Amino acid sequence: MPKIEELKAAEMDADLFIEEESKRLSDTVGDGLAINALSGGVDSSTVTMLGHKALGNRLKTYFIDNGLMRKDEPQKIARMFKGLGVPVEIVDAKKEFFAALKGVTDPEEKREAITQTFYKKVFADLIKKSGAKYLLQGTILTDVDETVAGIKRQHNVFEQLGIDPQKAFGYKILEPLVRLRKDGVRKVAAALGLPESVYNRIPFPGPALAARVIGEVTPDRIEIVRLATAITEDELSSIKAFQYLAILHEDRVTGMRAGKRDFGMQIEIRCWDSIDARHAKPVRLSYDVLERLAQRITTEVPGVVSVTYNVTTKPPSTIEAV
Ligand code: XMP
Repeated sequence: MPKIEELKAAEMDADLFIEEESKRLSDTVGDGLAINALSGGVDSSTVTMLGHKALGNRLKTYFIDNGLMRKDEPQKIARMFKGLGVPVEIVDAKKEFFAALKGVTDPEEKREAITQTFYKKVFADLIKKSGAKYLLQGTILTDVDETVAGIKRQHNVFEQLGIDPQKAFGYKILEPLVRLRKDGVRKVAAALGLPESVYNRIPFPGPALAARVIGEVTPDRIEIVRLATAITEDELSSIKAFQYLAILHEDRVTGMRAGKRDFGMQIEIRCWDSIDARHAKPVRLSYDVLERLAQRITTEVPGVVSVTYNVTTKPPSTIEAV
């Protein structure tokens, strides 16, 4: 597999990039059809807008509701893109994802279960239903690097692992952002006219909240991390940071409530300063902010008795926990 040549944000002319990649997409798809899945993250939002500009109604965009997304996310994102002139169909795939994740605790097996459900099941069904030949997706260079290096199997990387999507899943994958890192994607998104609330949105991983549950991913445990995430995002939205998140741990600890023992759950907060996600360091949050997070999470999220803050850099940590 030839090495992908990085296109650095500072050296990129975003308008020229859009023009060239649009032409390439349009020529490749020809008079056929492509589909793509929008998750509301920066990369998938950017590729959706780029694809829409290049392909118009030759692109059909879906939001896969895998049950692992943040609070009210499918409806919010579909509404927002509708406002930008991009129709989005929400696909309910909650059952398929929770069935694939049942009993799985190993992080890489969890990622693999999500990958297989997306590509072999959900996307393959949509390809069949729509008659499309191509899946357009927002893979970026950092996803490829970490997967090839064996750090984390990012959910959207195949060819660089020697997997031919056509043979494995029955369709081709188009990745117009693969030479960019996050800062480059943001530049393209701004040039495409996406609102700042989208392109400066904190990153969110493809495996969604499943990347933030240590141990088995069940609807109940996702609901716990979803509530903690909503509080974390609410409290940290005005902080200057690359990304912030809440993680649900598997180990329980002894706590107390109303004078009684409560063997409860632990939430870990992470808040990162980074430019391109390759290296990151924790933001020095004030104790007032940390105390408020702990106070809100232990009162508003049922069963949580402990909140911690990660002070490790990446490396050796990674940004997500799974
Ligand atoms: P890590 O945890 O590897 O994350 O330090 C680096 C950046 O990538 C995001 N991330 C993912 N994005 N699919 C994605 O699209 C994935 O499987 C995935 N895993 C992590 C993570 O949120 C961070 O911004």
